[in-house]
Amino acid sequence: MTDKPPTTTYRCAVIGNPIAHSRSPDIHAAFAQARGINLQYDRILAEAENFAAIVAQFFADGGRGLNITLPYKETAYRLCEQTSADARLAEAVNTLWQENGKLCGDNTDGRGLRHALEHEHAYPLAGKHILILGAGGAARGVIAPLCAARPASLHIANRTAAKAAAIIAAQQPHTTVPLTAGSLEDLAAAPAYDLIINATSTGLTDQPLALPANLAHCNSRAYDMQYGKSTPFLAWAAAQQITAHDGYSMLVAQARLSFQQWFPL
Ligand code: ATR
Repeated sequence: MTDKPPTTTYRCAVIGNPIAHSRSPDIHAAFAQARGINLQYDRILAEAENFAAIVAQFFADGGRGLNITLPYKETAYRLCEQTSADARLAEAVNTLWQENGKLCGDNTDGRGLRHALEHEHAYPLAGKHILILGAGGAARGVIAPLCAARPASLHIANRTAAKAAAIIAAQQPHTTVPLTAGSLEDLAAAPAYDLIINATSTGLTDQPLALPANLAHCNSRAYDMQYGKSTPFLAWAAAQQITAHDGYSMLVAQARLSFQQWFPL
């Protein structure tokens, strides 16, 4: 009789600050269970000054993969020795792994958002007029994959209009989708959009986000990249009586893409 070989336990984790609220461990536990993979997936709280050392130690100890969340996605990108095209366009990563001793990074947020919209919510993006609110890391991370779905146009509106313009200038050379930028105030005179995505941090910080009613037509969709709480943006969408989704579907979809990177079929 031969002994059964011991089952390998793989280690993955999500790093951020704050991190206690993260739902990633539960999501990855479900993926691992479905594949029969023995996975230990931890939450790691990091301070800016020890972030790089924690990442290095994790992989030196044989860790399989890391998810990176706020506020370290840009820092993690700068640590990478190899990056995907989506990571380079976002200048941020949410997924790390090691290959031939090199730290590699991808950004699955935008592909996750596209998948959530098109497959979880059955909302094809081709031909749609899209409005993105916000021009921080969250917005920058999703623009290229959204453009890959061939919307009719994409407009970025931000409190600081210059930041939206800078994103457009960087992204337009990589897509044929017409990209425009402006301020939140300009939205009072804007047309209605098919899809309105909230990528501001107002939900996180419980700050108001005043939006005019003219942004919505009766078939508009609203998507808040924030998940797990009612936000002023979702309240606005409810007031317009349009279908709205919070960011949980994106969270699951971006996590699935990370998991597939660490554990290819
Ligand atoms: P993240 O990485 O989550 O995108 P960020 O880079 O700090 O975080 O960006 C936050 C975004 O929310 C920015 O677009 C910010 O607008 P500014 O560029 O003008 O700062 C936007 N934001 C934050 N607070 C806001 C508020 N009270 N009203 C409108 N937009 C706000």
